[in-house]
Amino acid sequence: MYPDNHAKSRDLYQRAMHSLPGGNTRTTVFMKPFPIYAASGAGCRVRDLDGNEYIDCINNFTSLIHGHSHPVLIEAATRQLALGSAFGMPTESEVDLAELLAARLPSVDQVRFANSGTEAVMMALKAARAYTGRPKIAKCEGAYHGSYDYAEVSLDPTPAAWGGNAPVSVAYAKGTPENVLADVVTIPFNDIEAAVSLIREHGPELACVLVDPMPNRAGLVPADKAYLEALRQVTREVGALLIFDEVITFRLGYHGAQGLWGISPDLTTLGKIIGGGFPVGAIAGGKEFMAVFDPSSGKPALPHGGTFSANPVTMRAGLAAMELLDAAAFARLDTIGQAVRDGIDAAFRNTGVPGGTVGLGSLLKIHFTDRKIRDYRTAYLNEVETKRQTAFNAGLLNHGVFAANYGLLALSTPMTDADVETIVKAAAAALEQVAALG
Ligand SMILES: Cc1ncc(COP(=O)(O)O)c(C=O)c1O
Repeated sequence: MYPDNHAKSRDLYQRAMHSLPGGNTRTTVFMKPFPIYAASGAGCRVRDLDGNEYIDCINNFTSLIHGHSHPVLIEAATRQLALGSAFGMPTESEVDLAELLAARLPSVDQVRFANSGTEAVMMALKAARAYTGRPKIAKCEGAYHGSYDYAEVSLDPTPAAWGGNAPVSVAYAKGTPENVLADVVTIPFNDIEAAVSLIREHGPELACVLVDPMPNRAGLVPADKAYLEALRQVTREVGALLIFDEVITFRLGYHGAQGLWGISPDLTTLGKIIGGGFPVGAIAGGKEFMAVFDPSSGKPALPHGGTFSANPVTMRAGLAAMELLDAAAFARLDTIGQAVRDGIDAAFRNTGVPGGTVGLGSLLKIHFTDRKIRDYRTAYLNEVETKRQTAFNAGLLNHGVFAANYGLLALSTPMTDADVETIVKAAAAALEQVAALG
């Protein structure tokens, strides 16, 4: 039981406290009293330093859609490593991956590679500013888009700071300049009337609207199609670009969320699964918009470098990962995703704990309320729900399933039907513990 049978992780954390602030170099993996250190992973299982094994339902925060150390990805990456890991020259691998992404994403003609989703979102926002010559961006309340100042505004505001239908733009990090807040229009997710009205109000100054079609931190509820259609229409009306952040949602289907919803954004940001387990980000879109990066006729409107951008190890592993993700792989991910959602929903009914799952495809999130989850505000946990979630997380971990501490599970292609059963059983056992809280 964590933390008792984790002596080596505990010791390593003590050591880490000296050289890393709070022993940590990545806020998202911090855990109290100490994080569990990974030693190795194979398929859908991860083993920690103390030899405990878990079914991995974090998959490096959704990025490892083929789980750990997939033989095809090992082969692709090591073959390239032997040829060189990075060059001060372009390589064929970037063209190969860009062609695959453009062929899969309906709105995409061209791609620009970066090293993280954060950087992809930052460059997409800058591209929208460069294209329109306007300063402001609009984003949804509670949606996570990485660590760029503008993109993280109103990521986790508390109810006292929300405001009404026109959400207040609230700093996420201390030290965020006031002018950043002034240039971010925070819109409510899944509320057409309020979002459209705010976008019209700021229209002449608005470079873009940035939206994740199923924002994880804002509840992992799929956007209503009508909401995305309204954003598509109103951005055209005011002359702003529509950016889909598909850093996570590209794992929902062969043509991404834009294919599922049938909506064509101007720019798309990508990351996570397209790197085959290596650091990656990408900005993708129609030629007209991507032209801001084009250096072929002199200094581009938006210069962008990146020492490791499009490094061939990432590109080759990414290409191999994407090729493995054919229609059959997506169908299987949909099937196991639905089986886990159905199984956990049944466990909620059996235990009488209020709540259930949301999500699509290989992603799901667990909510501990009977409220209808629509957006950040309805997903916001009250004190009792926070207690239930904490107890559930501890229960899940102690029954051998590793999930994100905010209730997100991301499934992977190596998972068998037996693994699905184990996940559902672990969740059911964890819910029994929640039910015991009363
Ligand atoms: C929707 C979304 N956008 C952007 C990012 C940032 O990506 P990265 O962590 O690679 O910087 C994330 C990361 O979780 C994300 O979920």
